Amino acid sequence: MDKRAPGRNAELGLSTRAIHHGYDPADEHGALTPPIFMTSTYAFESAEAGSELFRGERAGYIYGRTKNPTQALLEARLASLEGGEGALALASGMGAISATMWTLLNAGDSVVIDRILYGNTFAFFTKGLSRFGVNVRLADFTDLDALAHELSAAGQVKIVYFETPANPNLRVIDIARVSSLAKAAGALTIVDNTFATPVLQNPLKLGADLVVHSATKYLGGHGDLLGGAVVGSSALVERIRGTGLRALTGATLSPLNAFLILRGLKTLEVRMERHSRSALEIAGQLERHPRVSHVAYPGLKSFPQYELAQRQMRQPGGLIAFELEGGVEAGMDFMNGLELIVRAVSLGDAETLVQHPASMTHATYSAEERKRHGISDNLFRLSVGLENVEDLTADIAQALDGLRD
Ligand SMILES: Cc1ncc(COP(=O)(O)O)c(C=O)c1O
Repeated sequence: MDKRAPGRNAELGLSTRAIHHGYDPADEHGALTPPIFMTSTYAFESAEAGSELFRGERAGYIYGRTKNPTQALLEARLASLEGGEGALALASGMGAISATMWTLLNAGDSVVIDRILYGNTFAFFTKGLSRFGVNVRLADFTDLDALAHELSAAGQVKIVYFETPANPNLRVIDIARVSSLAKAAGALTIVDNTFATPVLQNPLKLGADLVVHSATKYLGGHGDLLGGAVVGSSALVERIRGTGLRALTGATLSPLNAFLILRGLKTLEVRMERHSRSALEIAGQLERHPRVSHVAYPGLKSFPQYELAQRQMRQPGGLIAFELEGGVEAGMDFMNGLELIVRAVSLGDAETLVQHPASMTHATYSAEERKRHGISDNLFRLSVGLENVEDLTADIAQALDGLRD
């Protein structure tokens, strides 16, 4: 195995690549763990060499906003895990999404986005980009006929954008079919793969052009950093580095956070297996409980897109959305009754977290928008962590049983 030659490692397993890809200890004094390069700038061999670097006539590092060796290793590993030619690491998921859009879009362009997105992604498109002359259109991507209609009605569409499973209600979108509709319309497909991670699905292999991530979540995996990434063809990724990152956002990932995400990636596969196994058990517990009126989890047979999820995802993941008899009030009482599970937004951490999308992560949708787009105000979201599942089910049982009649 050549640890530095990306192409040769493609046939190795995902965890093996997450642990070894792109790094040989022999290059760094035998250090088992890749070093953190805490530097903002780089010395040029000569004045001429500096000018050559700027002109792109010489390979090497210039300045830390766009390139750093710790980031570069993280980028090589993310590209390998997602099956992309290249990757770009950024300061947060929103940094990744905004740098991508600022690079690829101009005033007058049209984008079609799914109607269920993380609250600030929704706000970025509908309340942000639209202020700069981008025509933002919404469609229900689970209805392929409606999407095809929207793609033809919108004129030339540049980008088709969605999450699957979607935040917060876990709707699953058919990546292969949406990508082929987008391709036929001459648009790029961009998928937010934060909820699934490359362990559960690889959108690029199903026809998407770019994948974006909030690395804050499962990739980092320990609730101790913010990070983001874009993965896809080298040509697109390098355009985003040169324009969206370098000149338009400056959303650079710190070398320390790149190091921490590299550490997180080593256990990504084992963590995703545990998150999925525990979430399946908890989803079943919720479904059977008389106080629970609705459970959305891609691994449950009752999930409306169970077949699609089985086909598209290797495991159902760690997120569950649910509603209780008694609506928001009962849900808030349930949250307050939990003793072990933590009341917090974010997801993908070792700790199990619970939150109320309508008043928290999705408060950027107005009440009218939530209603129109199908985000119930009664919905609660659980990010199942890595604790022993019997302790989680016991905490959920006591909080449900303690609800007032
Ligand atoms: C699906 C999804 N995409 C993007 C983001 C934004 O990521 P970040 O918080 O790292 O900016 C989030 C954050 O919750 C998310 O859930």
